[in-house]
Amino acid sequence: MNVPGPDRHALVTGGGGFIGSHLVETLLRLDCRVRVLDDFSTGRRANLPDDPRLEIQEGSVADLDAVGRAAAGATMIFHLAAIASVGRSIADPRGTHRVNYGGTVAVLEAARRWKVPRTVIASSAAVYGDADAALRRETDETHPLSPYAVDKLASEAICDFYRDMHDIRCAALRFFNVFGPRQDPASDYSGVVSIFLDHAARNAAPTIYGDGEQTRDFVHVTDVADALVAAASVPWMPEFGAVNIGSGKATSIRGLWREIATLTGATATPKRASARSGDIRRSRADISRAADLLGWRPQVDLAAGLADMMEARDGRRQTAAVR
Ligand SMILES: NC(=O)c1ccc[n+]([C@@H]2O[C@H](COP(=O)([O-])OP(=O)(O)OC[C@H]3O[C@@H](n4cnc5c(N)ncnc54)[C@H](O)[C@@H]3O)[C@@H](O)[C@H]2O)c1
Repeated sequence: MNVPGPDRHALVTGGGGFIGSHLVETLLRLDCRVRVLDDFSTGRRANLPDDPRLEIQEGSVADLDAVGRAAAGATMIFHLAAIASVGRSIADPRGTHRVNYGGTVAVLEAARRWKVPRTVIASSAAVYGDADAALRRETDETHPLSPYAVDKLASEAICDFYRDMHDIRCAALRFFNVFGPRQDPASDYSGVVSIFLDHAARNAAPTIYGDGEQTRDFVHVTDVADALVAAASVPWMPEFGAVNIGSGKATSIRGLWREIATLTGATATPKRASARSGDIRRSRADISRAADLLGWRPQVDLAAGLADMMEARDGRRQTAAVR
């Protein structure tokens, strides 16, 4: 892999957020210069280290001028800024569309203006919807079930357009359920991990909706950061497009609690509640494309990632120590 170095200059939109701030750490470790563009609506300045190689610009990705200024001189763009909430997208489809799709177009326009060699955007497993397949492949039919998922799919499609029409070297990574330190307990994706850890620490009974056999693919945030760097670093291939980023393993919600209970010694029995409408039954990524195209494989398994999160909570540590 052509690892970034001091001559490389990354723009990370949404760099103050959960995934973005871990990516910033990874890029700094690789001795890259980093500029963050974030409106800090859900992200926090405190998520970012104090480092002379890091520059922070406060602004919105929906603002073409702000994105243009932030992208000047960048050799790679990582576009992570989004309103990452299905519920908010249902309540305010126009407002979320302006940021979640409009932001992607602004980033691609900036990449075109400054001839940025590589752009990577954050997409989501949400584009698959509730397809019944046990394993999600990039070639599967998509079935977005919310304005959020529609905007992610449209963002992928506009990337394809910029790639074909303007020769913009852009790839979209479909993240599954990302977990790790600094994640938002209210997250649609992996909030359950924080909630269960919090209950386990108090030996309180968590609530499991439905039969608890619904599965998710939990992937550790440092693995996701590595996948983003890989997508910006490997030699360009025109067949880049959407690439799944998950662990490749299915974990049931009940299995997640068992794993956490074993780790923490919690003995509380979960409470049952009726299934939530719209809850996806099965989700697991086929990650062979990520291995073939990016040379990427996840390194942190669920147990190690959970143990690290638990330690981070106890020690009030905010960084991941599992590398
Ligand atoms: N967390 C997951 O499991 C997961 C799964 C699939 C996809 N994703 C995608 O990954 C990306 C990062 O998600 P996250 O979990 O880190 O969420 P997050 O909310 O922690 O990070 C999003 C960041 O974007 C910023 N932001 C929001 N609106 C903005 C705007 N208009 N202008 C500039 N910055 C803005 C926020 O302040 C925040 O720092 C998002 O695009 C999300 O849709 C996340």
